[in-house]
Amino acid sequence: MDEGEIQLLRTSLLAHYDAHGRTLPWRGDVGAYAVWVSEIMLQQTRVDTVVPYFERWMESFSTIEALAAATQDEVLRHWEGLGYYSRARNLHRGAMIVRDRFDGAVPSTSAELRTLPGVGDYTSGAIASIAFGEPVPAVDGNVRRVLARVFDEPTPSPGFLRQRAAALVDPERPGDFNQALMELGATVCTPRQPQCGSCPWAEACQARAQGSVELRPLPKRRRPVPQITFLVSVVVHGSLDLEGCEEKAVLLRRRPEEGLLGGLWECATTALDDDTAEPGTLSRMLARESEVGPRALPTVLQSYSHFRGEYRPTLFVVEEPIPVEGMRWFTLQELPEVALPVVQRRIVEAALESSPTPQPHLKGDL
Ligand code: ADE
Repeated sequence: MDEGEIQLLRTSLLAHYDAHGRTLPWRGDVGAYAVWVSEIMLQQTRVDTVVPYFERWMESFSTIEALAAATQDEVLRHWEGLGYYSRARNLHRGAMIVRDRFDGAVPSTSAELRTLPGVGDYTSGAIASIAFGEPVPAVDGNVRRVLARVFDEPTPSPGFLRQRAAALVDPERPGDFNQALMELGATVCTPRQPQCGSCPWAEACQARAQGSVELRPLPKRRRPVPQITFLVSVVVHGSLDLEGCEEKAVLLRRRPEEGLLGGLWECATTALDDDTAEPGTLSRMLARESEVGPRALPTVLQSYSHFRGEYRPTLFVVEEPIPVEGMRWFTLQELPEVALPVVQRRIVEAALESSPTPQPHLKGDL
């Protein structure tokens, strides 16, 4: 492809973006911090899903200093439902690094950005081009599909994609160009039924000329996703507070910092085939202490990137908020502030609906 053809592709894509680009809360003159937050949220996640999370986040943590000073619980609570929670922990750690090592200013080159946790090739390219005008590419899944089609490449390698995207990126408006390319993939050059009639690159598209658009790129071979069954012990304590109002509490523990759903809270949850799990101490104690139950609650299914989980909750209601090592009781009032994985919140809500409301004991000297 010669320089004239490349220039034509840049001009036509940017004209399409100027006419059809979506208005999004992280576009325009929002500053590098907002661009950083948006690009981390947009990893593996659709624009429509991200918008309300982004707005809530920027209201609560409007500056890097505010984010760096927040607790991990507050941060995770704002991410609840967005998935891939290591992104939130990395953003939080990144804010502290920017505060402590970069004088509070987001680094302005893709090379420095890449030193921040959770910022790789794609994200550093996106932030550097959008916030600082550095003419570097940003290849996400949507861009990969567009380039595979324009160059009719069935299995584009990362090197191929980077080299083609770097040659195409507009040196005058690199941020707009990259966003335009992502958006073309998300809205026009879609995996199925692409809208080639509205595509500014239709004339140049080699897959279109070959009639192979829907075959590009070829699907990656995926490993089968394992299914894991989890037993969940939902322990509820029901009592009456002094005014006679209902005061229930739920027993939760915090997941280890690293790994899936790290730092979030959960009911005691054990994979069915996990030999290393706690050897039934909690269950034995619960069987002894429990007034109601064990009562089976409806199974909840949840898919993650590398497995499908089947969660089988059992409800236990205990009379006293018995202390359990490594766990904490949370009252109903506290629950909205606790960061729980989506599946755990569903289970806790189902448990609270089904657990009996305690009746006032008739006291007195009848
Ligand atoms: N996907 C990731 N970043 C994006 C952006 N800035 N605009 C549109 N889609 C995106």
